[in-house]
Amino acid sequence: MTRVLSCIQPTGDVHLGNYLGALRNWVGGQHEADVFHGIVDLHALTVTSAPGVVGAATIDLAAWLFAVGLDPDVATVFVQSHVPEHAQLSWVMECTVSFGELSRMTQYKDKAAKREGDFISAGLFTYPALMAADIVLYDADEVPVGEDQRQHVEITRDIAIRFNSRFGDTFVIPVAVMPKAGARVMDLQDPTSKMSKSAATDAGLVLLADEPAAIMKKFKRAVTDSDNEVRYDRESKPGVSNLLDVLSACTGETPAVLAESYTQYGPLKSDAGEAVVALLQPVQARYRELMADPGELAALLHKGADKAGVVAKTTLARAYDHLGLVPR
Ligand code: TRP
Repeated sequence: MTRVLSCIQPTGDVHLGNYLGALRNWVGGQHEADVFHGIVDLHALTVTSAPGVVGAATIDLAAWLFAVGLDPDVATVFVQSHVPEHAQLSWVMECTVSFGELSRMTQYKDKAAKREGDFISAGLFTYPALMAADIVLYDADEVPVGEDQRQHVEITRDIAIRFNSRFGDTFVIPVAVMPKAGARVMDLQDPTSKMSKSAATDAGLVLLADEPAAIMKKFKRAVTDSDNEVRYDRESKPGVSNLLDVLSACTGETPAVLAESYTQYGPLKSDAGEAVVALLQPVQARYRELMADPGELAALLHKGADKAGVVAKTTLARAYDHLGLVPR
């Protein structure tokens, strides 16, 4: 069966765009391939934060991943720092990639430029080596990533190919694949931008943890336009089309067909809001249950770390062996 690895950084607050755009597909995907989902807390350390911040975000994200429906008996959901082989193999990757190759990573150049005058950790620079370790550790065949991460999967392939040619066949060479397209949810206040935590205001951002009343309020205040015609047209009517897309993602009906049942914006806004509230209701209930039961959540993550650990140990041992390190 195809082994698929996707990882997500615990950077806080999961939102509707994350859910409808990606997480919901992970749930369907767990029955189509052998999926590993890492919560990559070590990656989140490249930009330093206060004690406990990454841990709290890790717990929160884990609770959401199980709440949306990832089944710990089917998918392997684990926390990166619970599997020490990530950090161990990362060093081997660092010694296999060149300084020049890392210097050409566009994400590094962008992030370093934005932090000019600020603290730039060496981890920000070597991050692709850790990501390469994440991937080859699980013999992943496929890595679903967006455009921004393609270059990191490419460098992973280069590193794995180089290692294999120097030390013998050790790693599976992964390919980057397009994630299954979910809904593209736009900011409710700025419907030409993707919903994101970094928006100027939170008014257009629907968090998975939002109370029903807050969700309804955000939808009722959603930016539309002034021509009072409900029609699906992403180009000239981005706000209205976004509401139709969200409603479509919740109901399964196409946006164009949905558009025919509305003549005014008001009812479309409240129906979209209500559909989201209803869709999230069971997910939020399960999230709250898990957050109220830290022992249960820890047990689920323990199980994931055990499953991930078995594969990771085997791969690291193979790499050390092919390197010819002295066994202890
Ligand atoms: N770098 C990825 C991001 O920022 C996260 C990530 C870390 C990842 N390790 C990975 C993604 C391995 C896929 C596979 O989004």
